[in-house]
Amino acid sequence: MADTNDINSFVEPYLIPEGSDELNKNLKFMANGFAVTDDKIREIIAGFHESMKTGLDHDDKDALPMIPTFVRGRPTGQEKGTYLALDLGGTNLRVCQVTLNGDTTYSLVQQKFTITQDAKESRLWDFIAECVGVFLEEHGMKPAPGKRTIPCGYTFSFPIFQTSISSGNLSMWNKGFTVPNSVGRDVVNLTQSAFQRHHVPVEVVAIVNDTVGTLMTSGYSYPDTQMGIIFGTGTNAAYWEKLESIPKWTGEDRKGEMVVNLEWGAFDNATKVLPYTMHDNKLNRKSPNHGFQVYEKMISGLFLGEVVRNALLSLVDRRLLFEGRSSEILNKSYTFDTAYMSEIVADDSSDLHGVKAVLEGTLDLPTTTFIDRQIVQNVCNMVGTRGVRLSAAAMSAVLLARPELMKSNVSVGIDGSMYQFYPNFEQDLYKVSSVFLDPDFVQNRLQLRLAKDGSGVGAAIVAMTVDRDRA
Ligand code: BGC
Repeated sequence: MADTNDINSFVEPYLIPEGSDELNKNLKFMANGFAVTDDKIREIIAGFHESMKTGLDHDDKDALPMIPTFVRGRPTGQEKGTYLALDLGGTNLRVCQVTLNGDTTYSLVQQKFTITQDAKESRLWDFIAECVGVFLEEHGMKPAPGKRTIPCGYTFSFPIFQTSISSGNLSMWNKGFTVPNSVGRDVVNLTQSAFQRHHVPVEVVAIVNDTVGTLMTSGYSYPDTQMGIIFGTGTNAAYWEKLESIPKWTGEDRKGEMVVNLEWGAFDNATKVLPYTMHDNKLNRKSPNHGFQVYEKMISGLFLGEVVRNALLSLVDRRLLFEGRSSEILNKSYTFDTAYMSEIVADDSSDLHGVKAVLEGTLDLPTTTFIDRQIVQNVCNMVGTRGVRLSAAAMSAVLLARPELMKSNVSVGIDGSMYQFYPNFEQDLYKVSSVFLDPDFVQNRLQLRLAKDGSGVGAAIVAMTVDRDRA
């Protein structure tokens, strides 16, 4: 295995023997910037621990948010029944009818609605109510006899400061959402009012972050689940923490445990530790939440393609790529989809025809040379490798914060497009974390498990426990 503490191991694979000295000088500089050595990861882990500790103690704008979620009971796998769940992600709204079979298995019927630009910018709450109305109609779902509403679990993939299991104030928008008059307000209230306006007979009884949903779903099938992670359009994690280790929790009962939502995308917003490059700065400066979610911008699917695009254009501007020419498509922000990165990185053909198809077919570039295609593949690899290494750093940091757990088997439930589709993502998570965690633990006791559609199912599990407890 390459020595991941030696900067040359991050630089040399990206140099192109047939390329000019000028090209290789620039590639070397770029690869250096995107490299994350093992020592850098150790620094990041230490930074995470300090920031987690501060965030658990008190709310501090420079620390990780560490949000108590009010979720206190682990699923048993025996929960049974049919529930409604809404899952608001960055790209889609999913409305699901979840059936928990009581034997650690579940099934779901779901309808996916692509969130329109208009909804992202203004009429989100009405859009949600309309979609739920359509779903109820099409699936003939009605309140149970004697009840006026259908109880529902609500997965919300944006940062909220929870005030109870069924309420929470939006701390900010991200993933390109900018709906006005929402920040600082209770998102359950906003959704519930829209339900009323549209005569949708649904009551939100629990709101959970998507990472919490993923943790609960994985825990329903695998009781040793300690953490839920999303590596998708955005990134974040939730884990079980002892209540006595959450000094800022002011609830009466301090015994037992609670799920904490880290909101780890906000790690090191001041970029004191993170290896930020000019290409990241360019993205950050232009983003509506400039200076926030800095870690997420180096890891998640919404942003990686844009970092690659910035890096490629810097080479075009130096006339080192595509003979100094770009295309109208490539000139526009966010046109280099992260899914193209996956295609490009996976192309092992001798003439890189997969890369050619993306560049010439999809991005409409004039003809490309073999060297152009190699450069593009190398840049995608630099940015992708950095993303995977930072992802593994974050996961390792959280596991290392609860060392006693690692004596036994630990499952981590994970969902998201990066985890599912980026080449070798899972394998690399194991490989990189084994440098920082006990390798025996990683090899024999750690299980990363795909919790597909877990965010919605988890909301139904939480809703079911809430509804049961108040019955
Ligand atoms: C949000 C988190 C969410 C994550 C994964 C981030 O942008 O702030 O709340 O869990 O994306 O969807």
